[in-house]
Amino acid sequence: MTREPKPTGPWAGPFGAAYTERNRDETVEDVNDEYEERFGITQTALLKRLFDGVDRDARILEIGCGVGVQLEILQELGFEHLYGLDLQRYPLVVADQIRPYVHPVQGVARHLPFPDNSFDVVCTIEVLIHIPPDSTEAVLDDIVRCSRQLIVGSEYFAPTRTEFLYRGQRGIAWKDNFAALYEAGRDVEEVDAQVIEYVGEEPNTDGDRFRSVFRLETDD
Ligand SMILES: C[S@@+](CC[C@H](N)C(=O)[O-])C[C@H]1O[C@@H](n2cnc3c(N)ncnc32)[C@H](O)[C@@H]1O
Repeated sequence: MTREPKPTGPWAGPFGAAYTERNRDETVEDVNDEYEERFGITQTALLKRLFDGVDRDARILEIGCGVGVQLEILQELGFEHLYGLDLQRYPLVVADQIRPYVHPVQGVARHLPFPDNSFDVVCTIEVLIHIPPDSTEAVLDDIVRCSRQLIVGSEYFAPTRTEFLYRGQRGIAWKDNFAALYEAGRDVEEVDAQVIEYVGEEPNTDGDRFRSVFRLETDD
């Protein structure tokens, strides 16, 4: 497991550990049921669409992979070269045990420990929302730097930066129009982007009313 700059912030402490503990046994079926209830579409269907046409030999990096359940969906879709980066060590140890096909890398999104264009696809799923606003631009720059072909994202959406309570806490989550942020001043082109709306009875957090799912091409 590679190790890069020492992680700091809430995800590196008890808050992150509690998240991992709550989610360590979550299965693909659990994720799909939850997405179906919240958005009327399974996560497998969403990822199938976002990765449509991507070569099954592609090198794929998920930043903020947690225990790797999203990478398991990609593995089920036929992808073989799957890398998961997280700032916490514990979820990567869990991923290594239960999803041995995932290459675990400990690191922080702002200082990705990879050379330029290392991956065909770099994706984030509910991770950019947790990057403190003063680091967002540097994180997006580093993601673009590492992606040779595509950037895929699924993030809570708001037209402009809006902080929201995440598990009752402030200073943890900010929704935004991340596809537009990527495009502003970077050599990327939107090829698919949609805002999907929460269809369940009551969102689990006040941030989860709209979700942006997007796919951007990078020009290496
Ligand atoms: C809400 S979870 C999402 C996990 C996974 N993407 C999923 O959808 O199941 C956010 C994850 O991102 C990680 N994370 C948060 N900030 C990070 C950063 N700056 N660099 C790397 N990982 C980060 C956390 O440790 C946590 O595992």
